[in-house]
Amino acid sequence: MESKKPGKKNQITVSVIKADVGGYVGHSSSHPDILERASQLMDHAATEGVVTDFRVTSVGDDLNLIMTHCRGTDSRVIHKLAWDVFMECTRLAKELKLYGAGQDMLADAFSGNVKGMGPGVAEMSFVERKSEPIIIFAADKCAPGAWNLPLFQMFGNPFNTIGLVIDPAMHEGFKFEVHDVHKGRDIFLSCPEDMYDLLVLIGSPENYIIKNVYRKTGEIAAASSTQKLALIAGRYVGKDDPVMIIRCQSGLPAVGEVLEPFAFPHLVSGWMRGSHYGPLMPVAQPDATPARFDGPPRVIALGFQINNGRLVGPRDMFADQSFDLARQHANEAADFLRRHGPFEPHRLGLKDMEYTTLPQVLEKLLGKGKK
Ligand code: F6R
Ligand code: MG
Ligand code: MG
Repeated sequence: MESKKPGKKNQITVSVIKADVGGYVGHSSSHPDILERASQLMDHAATEGVVTDFRVTSVGDDLNLIMTHCRGTDSRVIHKLAWDVFMECTRLAKELKLYGAGQDMLADAFSGNVKGMGPGVAEMSFVERKSEPIIIFAADKCAPGAWNLPLFQMFGNPFNTIGLVIDPAMHEGFKFEVHDVHKGRDIFLSCPEDMYDLLVLIGSPENYIIKNVYRKTGEIAAASSTQKLALIAGRYVGKDDPVMIIRCQSGLPAVGEVLEPFAFPHLVSGWMRGSHYGPLMPVAQPDATPARFDGPPRVIALGFQINNGRLVGPRDMFADQSFDLARQHANEAADFLRRHGPFEPHRLGLKDMEYTTLPQVLEKLLGKGKK
């Protein structure tokens, strides 16, 4: 598939790599000094020609590095750059005594690729079109399966994307690459032909996560981060707070079709202590500051036009009145769910609590019962 060919001629690569290097205050936001330090380091990397262009942003307590370059996906150079930036920001976070400093940095030393080391990664390579609009989504206080429903809506559901019905360039549908989180394998399913099979899997976002979406020609259309921190670390280390990249227009979903799924603030797992279902609230970047019960979970959408590998933008796509109602619905759903307190189904089911701190409490309790 196109996204996996490293550094192919005429291709540019967009890499979005993120980590929680420390929160300000608690897990609610990123400290301005951290963002400034990351920008300085990335600026230096751009001057040295390591990346073509970059943007540094944050959603909640997550630091996001958006990069363009010609080194292909899984580039050691790009992953090492991101790792070094996160390590330096961790050092600063510790100096400032920010909360949970270095939370996502699970390894002591870089070993070639940040995947599996803590940070989340979404990457894709493609030949830049005559005009190349992309949207980068980043979320806080939720797991990577949060993208399943919106990705299906964008690329598989004609009730969301009218282009699937009326645009001859889209009428064939799209191919989905689904990652089986537990078995570590990938499954390819096409829409519309395999739609029901696809829904069998992706309707369970804790277990199956849409990793990439392709045109039937094999051209990459969407890429998400699929790392699950809890499975990497084997213990609770926070939620994964995913990112994704979507290419738009001209035979791909229009910008408005890509944003449309977020008008419904669907329920995602995460929120307080990574242990609750809550609505995913679409917000402008300055509002990506989870507060109530460490939430509700937030998503931002940054739009760019790519011009010869350079990032023109961002436009803050959810900073628009057309998402006011979604935010209101999210607050209402949050209020309704909160009234369940510690009860399921607001709290995750026991199986999904496996990687939280609950098993430690259970063990103590059940131990007592035995006596
Ligand atoms: C969720 C999250 C927070 C923390 C919570 C408790 O992803 O990061 O909700 O789980 O604030 O944090 P600790 O255990 O560090 O006090
Ligand atoms: Mg955190
Ligand atoms: Mg976070």
